[in-house]
Amino acid sequence: MGYLVRLISRSPEETEDIGFRLGKTLKAGDVIGLNGELGTGKTTMVKGIAGAFGIAKRDITSASFTIIAEYESDPTFYHIDLYRIGGDDDLDATGVWDCIGSDSVSVVEWAGMAEEGFPEHAIKVMIKAKGDDDREITIEGINEEDWNNLQIR
Ligand SMILES: Nc1ncnc2c1ncn2[C@@H]1O[C@H](COP(=O)(O)OP(=O)(O)OP(=O)(O)O)[C@@H](O)[C@H]1O
Ligand SMILES: [Mg+2]
Repeated sequence: MGYLVRLISRSPEETEDIGFRLGKTLKAGDVIGLNGELGTGKTTMVKGIAGAFGIAKRDITSASFTIIAEYESDPTFYHIDLYRIGGDDDLDATGVWDCIGSDSVSVVEWAGMAEEGFPEHAIKVMIKAKGDDDREITIEGINEEDWNNLQIR
């Protein structure tokens, strides 16, 4: 299961910072699954994670028609959003299984749609709204040493 951290974010900026810190612990082959209700801050967190790979946050969007966005960072970064996936056939047709894995870093919103197929070392993030701007963020499966050795920006 790995190390588990539970944090409170009080603003979108804090959620981005948590994402950035998480991003700094990642390496090629890592998969991060994000879950949480509509509008809780999944995409906001992806902006932070992507920042750790030199990707500008304005390039991370939640366009309704984009299921997979690929960024030419090193390693390649995939932002996947499964909100509109109807079922397993749909999921298989998206090509997500070609993205997730060995040479890339994949971050998946609405990961619950695909989690069964994730590698065992996948990191799970759950975001829960606790008020207008407060969010409880649980991160499960990160490398304890990497996480604790990192300074937030
Ligand atoms: N602490 C916080 N962390 C993240 N977002 C916050 C926070 N407080 C308020 N917000 C607001 O919540 C919204 C989060 O939107 P975002 O698109 O990141 O959510 P999402 O979970 O990706 O939504 P969707 O389910 O549509 O994909 C933004 O409008 C943001 O400003
Ligand atoms: Mg989103």
